[in-house]
Amino acid sequence: MTEEVVDLEDIPGVGPETAKKLREAGFTTIEAIAIASPAEISSIAGIGESSALKIIQNARKMASIGGFESGDKVLERRKNVRKITTGSKDLDALFGGGIETQAITELFGEFGSGKTQLCHQLAVNVQLSEERGGLNGCAIVIDTENTFRPERIIQMAMAKKLDPNEVLRNIYVAQAYNSNHQMLLVDNAKELAEKIKKEGKNVRLLIVDSLTSHFRAEYVGRGTLADRQQKLNRHMHDLMKFGELFNAAVVVTNQVMARPDIMFGDPTKPVGGHIVAHTATYRVYLKKSKGDLRIARLVDSPHLPESEVVFKVTERGIEDANAK
Ligand SMILES: Nc1ncnc2c1ncn2[C@@H]1O[C@H](COP(=O)(O)OP(=O)(O)OP(=O)(O)O)[C@@H](O)[C@H]1O
Ligand SMILES: [Mg+2]
Repeated sequence: MTEEVVDLEDIPGVGPETAKKLREAGFTTIEAIAIASPAEISSIAGIGESSALKIIQNARKMASIGGFESGDKVLERRKNVRKITTGSKDLDALFGGGIETQAITELFGEFGSGKTQLCHQLAVNVQLSEERGGLNGCAIVIDTENTFRPERIIQMAMAKKLDPNEVLRNIYVAQAYNSNHQMLLVDNAKELAEKIKKEGKNVRLLIVDSLTSHFRAEYVGRGTLADRQQKLNRHMHDLMKFGELFNAAVVVTNQVMARPDIMFGDPTKPVGGHIVAHTATYRVYLKKSKGDLRIARLVDSPHLPESEVVFKVTERGIEDANAK
């Protein structure tokens, strides 16, 4: 299984002292060391370049850096794919049974379409027992717009008859201050998930709400677009790796503006364009409808038909449109 968690000290040639220096320099994972240069490791750890090279080679053997996995391993990993209920049967059906682990689900739509609400709901639902559509898991939230609301979690937890304090304890939230920080937080999430795992619990959901707001704000103008796409691409791959490593669902949001005053291009085109589109496994367009009703449409899924469902957002959370 790829879920096995390893420490830097497990790399042959890395003692506690070297591990400490590497961690302090930001090399906290086997993968980070596997792609470092011998000169880098040598100067950080204060060891010779040939020893550094051996460490890197050993790390490469242990890491799955852009590496290949045999087909049977992929099959084995795919067998562990699980699903988290959204709280609405219709919405679950749209996703082929719920939000999948080892996949990135992108929620895109205009303001107030329910992206953040669905994220909150999933952070609660992932904690449900498997019989109730959950994974007995914890959630990590990377919050870029300061929209995480514990009060909302409490409402949703109570609606599910869960202990709200317990539910809040199992949700780990970090604010991302800019796009670089946001990317770094995925590494931190990995460390946190490893720590939680050692305590006997599992992170089964990683949320990035919103994926694109910082990128959009920081990269204005055409000159920097390629740079932005490249970073976004790396970010998406880091997120996917997290999902595979921990058998966790990854959910990201992306705001689109349906503004009639924008007369060029497609006004509902999500930020990140083809990069996000090609890396996300499931993409769902959310749209406001009458009152508390919302429309969800699955777009370009590899194996599910393009279809549309209606659900609603109430004080209790995400529900079927006809829920009483
Ligand atoms: N406690 C609640 N009870 C009922 N409905 C609520 C509650 N809290 C939020 N909502 C509904 O959710 C809507 C907000 O949706 P949400 O915050 O998920 O939008 P979003 O898609 O994340 O928007 P943005 O792009 O601005 O982040 C509110 O307008 C309201 O309709
Ligand atoms: Mg939001």
